[in-house]
Amino acid sequence: MNKFITFEGMDGAGKSTHLTWFAEALRARGHEVVVTREPGGTPLGEQLREILLHQPMSIGTEALLMFAARLEHIEQVIRPALQAGQWVLSDRFTDATFAYQGGGRGMDWAKLTELEHWVHADLQPDLTLFFDVPVEVARQRLSANASLDRFEQEQADFFERVRAGYHRRVAQHPQRYALIDASVSLGEVKSKLEQVLTSI
Ligand SMILES: Nc1ncnc2c1ncn2[C@@H]1O[C@H](COP(=O)(O)OP(=O)(O)OP(=O)(O)O)[C@@H](O)[C@H]1O
Ligand SMILES: [Mg+2]
Repeated sequence: MNKFITFEGMDGAGKSTHLTWFAEALRARGHEVVVTREPGGTPLGEQLREILLHQPMSIGTEALLMFAARLEHIEQVIRPALQAGQWVLSDRFTDATFAYQGGGRGMDWAKLTELEHWVHADLQPDLTLFFDVPVEVARQRLSANASLDRFEQEQADFFERVRAGYHRRVAQHPQRYALIDASVSLGEVKSKLEQVLTSI
């Protein structure tokens, strides 16, 4: 049975690094795999991503635009692919909104839960790979990157809250997550993900 799998964790955790080979490994098993990302994943979503990553705005606007891009993404990409029997791998999804807008920015958790119910009450990832990493490690990995976006420019305390936000989500639905210690070497992270692959 095809699955909807999301990759979560803070900036620099290693999501994008591992997503590509993970998708290839599924294709090698004969599955059709759609690789997508949030915010983004559709032409409108990518335009909203540009605004979200670079333009200052209020916290509520930020959360609403994230969910607006997500609704488009679900309707245009995720649901059609799942209905066609394809696997969907998304680089971030709703957990990131709880972590960044809820944890990081302090937006009311219950309000985000209402938006989640409105936008996708009947859809959740089958599996979420949560790349967990201490803030300092993630920051060091990002520091090589010249141009930081509006989120990446935030300070360490913001990312501590983001990490706590992710953990709060995991605690609410632990069975949906595979917790990946992403602080170890690339090879070690990869072998953990290979173990996950054998179980799906
Ligand atoms: N386990 C690891 N050990 C050392 N370096 C790593 C590890 N995982 C990723 N990196 C490096 O850290 C940087 C950030 O990784 P990557 O872009 O995959 O993170 P990301 O989770 O996708 O971040 P973002 O949310 O900002 O897109 C890259 O240069 C990558 O090569
Ligand atoms: Mg990435």
